[in-house]
Amino acid sequence: MKIAIGSDHGGITLKETVKEHLEKKGYEVRDFGTYTRESCDYPDISEKVALSIADKSQDLGILICGTGIGIGIAANKIRGIRAALCHDTFSAHATREHNDANILTMGERVIGPSLALDIVDTFLTTKFEGGRHQTRIDKITSLEEKYIEVEEEK
Ligand code: RB5
Repeated sequence: MKIAIGSDHGGITLKETVKEHLEKKGYEVRDFGTYTRESCDYPDISEKVALSIADKSQDLGILICGTGIGIGIAANKIRGIRAALCHDTFSAHATREHNDANILTMGERVIGPSLALDIVDTFLTTKFEGGRHQTRIDKITSLEEKYIEVEEEK
């Protein structure tokens, strides 16, 4: 499975921990930055990771900032992205089964690394249930089609 990962400066320490953990487990991890502790703007990282999921070059994404909130709000502006903020394993499990979430977001300033790794493992190993949940995902997609304008290609 190919995993896209990214963080701002507020999430870089946890990003490094998650990346090492996933590589040890044999996942193919693509790191979209940030690569230094210098202050940066989380939407720039959200965009890179989200586009790699939307165009299917990566399977699932993980985004980390101080709270996990801003980086997820930005990712959810991209069509086809369902980024879910999870700070417990129940939510990580439920959001894969019910929402077919394709990006996990977490806050480095909110939870510790051991819990974060359990959440990551749960998110990556839980399958979407489909069925009645697919109907709801289809409705989310309809909302994107109805309200998000696509710029004409030049
Ligand atoms: C950066 O200071 C901080 O605002 C960011 O990491 C994140 O928490 C935003 O939601």
